[in-house]
Amino acid sequence: MDQVAGNEEIHKLRSQFIPQGHTSGQSRYVASAGGAVIRDVEGREYIDFAGGIGVMNVGHSHPKVVAAIQDQAAKFTHTCFMVFPYEPAVRLAEKLCRATPGVFPKKALFVNSGAEAVENAVKIARYATKRAAIIACENAYHGRTLLTMSLTSKVKPYKFGFGPFAPEIYHVPYAYCYRCSFGLRYPGCSVACADYLKDFFINHVAAEDVAALIAEPVQGEGGFMTPPPEYFPKVAKICKEKGILFIADEIQSGMGRTGKMFAIEHWGVEPDLITVAKSLAAGMPLSAVVGRAEIMDSVHASGLGGTYGANPVACSAGLAVMEIFEEEDILAKAQALGEKLRKRFDEFQGRFEIIGDVRGKGPMLALELVRDRETKEPAADEAKALVKTCFEKGLLLLSCGTFGNVIRTLMPLTITDGQLERGLAILADGLKSLGR
Ligand SMILES: Cc1ncc(COP(=O)(O)O)c(C=O)c1O
Repeated sequence: MDQVAGNEEIHKLRSQFIPQGHTSGQSRYVASAGGAVIRDVEGREYIDFAGGIGVMNVGHSHPKVVAAIQDQAAKFTHTCFMVFPYEPAVRLAEKLCRATPGVFPKKALFVNSGAEAVENAVKIARYATKRAAIIACENAYHGRTLLTMSLTSKVKPYKFGFGPFAPEIYHVPYAYCYRCSFGLRYPGCSVACADYLKDFFINHVAAEDVAALIAEPVQGEGGFMTPPPEYFPKVAKICKEKGILFIADEIQSGMGRTGKMFAIEHWGVEPDLITVAKSLAAGMPLSAVVGRAEIMDSVHASGLGGTYGANPVACSAGLAVMEIFEEEDILAKAQALGEKLRKRFDEFQGRFEIIGDVRGKGPMLALELVRDRETKEPAADEAKALVKTCFEKGLLLLSCGTFGNVIRTLMPLTITDGQLERGLAILADGLKSLGR
């Protein structure tokens, strides 16, 4: 389709034909994107610190991804993997099984969205353990389908008015150290939030009824909460002792986002099941559940699947992404980017009172904004204003957080130094304009 309309005209049409529930952060419209830069239909350029919510780790329209999509689309776009399978899905499954932590035999199931991957991880965990209950974490985000909305923690806007929710879902406090649920401080706390699981089995749900515990190694939408080193080893050990499967939801934190291929590697834990999506196929709708072969294979024939799952064009894009990771050493780029960002964000915290906390892993980094460093009153309006002023100046930023007061970085890991510096300069100006 040729681009014909300007921002205002498209926006008018959008207001008429797209429901307001499917909100967009901006009322300008994209014409093209490359690397870490997006152009709107009127020719304005934006440095992209959002990456389509963590989807564009290898950059927009990477030539290798574009070529893989074009090449596969010219061969065939769909036969349905359940009807007549094809090689790209098998090759990508092999690559993912090798790239995920743990040297034990693994298998990978492909579906379409992050939420669908989480749904399937839960199905598989229930089937394998013959147990019903699932434990999720406070501040968690796992998607917008009935089950994943039930696993999600924040009520507005994700759950409000959409109940009743799926049964047998329980939430435990997470290691949100800046606002500890137990009023403790690390390291004096001895990571009490992990040990709390044991009490939870007494008061909330019997361990022998729990199929799995699902957690994001670095919480995404919740606000980039990053547990201390002892947290996941402790949680995984308790799960193992009780026969509970540990599912790492790596949909936002995976695919190099934290400087390792999967964030859980920072904690040295090997999950039973891992959910992957977003940057897996550079914008093509593809997600996966990767897990121990015996667990994945516990489900009867035809118990899993879907019409579009393992779409050949999406899998070919995924294979291109995997090659780019190797050829361009994306993990080394991510680590270097993470170090630069951390240094600059620490400097920002020294300069701007409004920054209460800097946290994250590698380039998955965030600033929690507060009105007062003592009371930690969340500065949600200020976060919103910051996103808006930065956008006007050509920087696309994303906020997140249980209290809506966190600014996060999800830029392409391939961002150039020049683009990064331009973006950080706009961000610094924006923080200054908040006057705190
Ligand atoms: C950790 C996590 N899990 C699940 C999802 C849901 O993914 P999707 O929006 O593709 O359904 C997201 C999306 O942001 C996510 O960050």
